Amino acid sequence: MSAIEELHADTDHDDVESHSMPAEGVKLVRGSYRVEAFHAIADSDLIGALYRMMHEAFAPLDELTAMRHCYDEDEWDGYMRDSRIGKLVLFDRSEPIGVLTAIYQLELAPWLSPRFLRGMFPGRRIFYQSDTIISPEAQRSGHAGLLLEVAMRLAREDGAIATFSVSDYNISWGFLDFIQAEAAKWCDGVVGEIDAHRYYAFDATAADRPADAWYPQHAALLADTSGATGPASS
Ligand SMILES: CC(C)(COP(=O)(O)OP(=O)(O)OC[C@H]1O[C@@H](n2cnc3c(N)ncnc32)[C@H](O)[C@@H]1OP(=O)(O)O)[C@@H](O)C(=O)NCCC(=O)NCCS
Repeated sequence: MSAIEELHADTDHDDVESHSMPAEGVKLVRGSYRVEAFHAIADSDLIGALYRMMHEAFAPLDELTAMRHCYDEDEWDGYMRDSRIGKLVLFDRSEPIGVLTAIYQLELAPWLSPRFLRGMFPGRRIFYQSDTIISPEAQRSGHAGLLLEVAMRLAREDGAIATFSVSDYNISWGFLDFIQAEAAKWCDGVVGEIDAHRYYAFDATAADRPADAWYPQHAALLADTSGATGPASS
């Protein structure tokens, strides 16, 4: 039996309900900041504000990563109104300045294999943390930690495994180190890589060109990032 077969053997993948949404409501208040948990968001103005924030924050990533980050308006609207997808919204007074989304029913993320994840963590509740966004005007001021603190505390209360993926670009500036530091701060948690999926290109006309010279603009952007030495793993 291969290692992968062993991983899945004797595992009843349906024995654990993988979606256990945290209850809705305010989860953290700190000074003028508030983190509120939602299931379905019904307020169209809030959905619109979060859409604009998502688009402004993710648009640069669509030039830096192979995976699409920006949602279109209809997708975002459906996502926000879907009660199976949890949202933590960070407000500064009444203004939304950040959002973190978590998919509690793994089948709703068609790019994920629930079978792989359930085989990896048998008997555990598992969710996929899909987006962590701070509005561009509010970035680099320590706001992401407020969302991560709540997400990590809720995961600990629920005994749930939080899965997520990080692009090479975000790894290059230290996002993963930041998540690890937050995990250590709020819940004695550890972050470990469970799989990698990389993007490749085959150029039949470029046999003499070294692979790292294919996309010089991209290499320059990564090198320009403070402290970055280039992409690590995906
Ligand atoms: C990634 C993101 C959520 C971080 O939120 P934030 O509130 O700006 O983060 P913080 O201000 O708490 O910064 C955390 C640390 O990361 C560093 N950092 C944050 N963004 C950075 C960037 N783009 N480049 C380099 N360092 C960065 C900060 O300097 C800080 O380090 P420090 O504590 O040692 O000073 C936010 O920048 C964002 O929304 N980015 C666009 C969307 C995105 O990439 N989301 C993550 C993938 S879904």
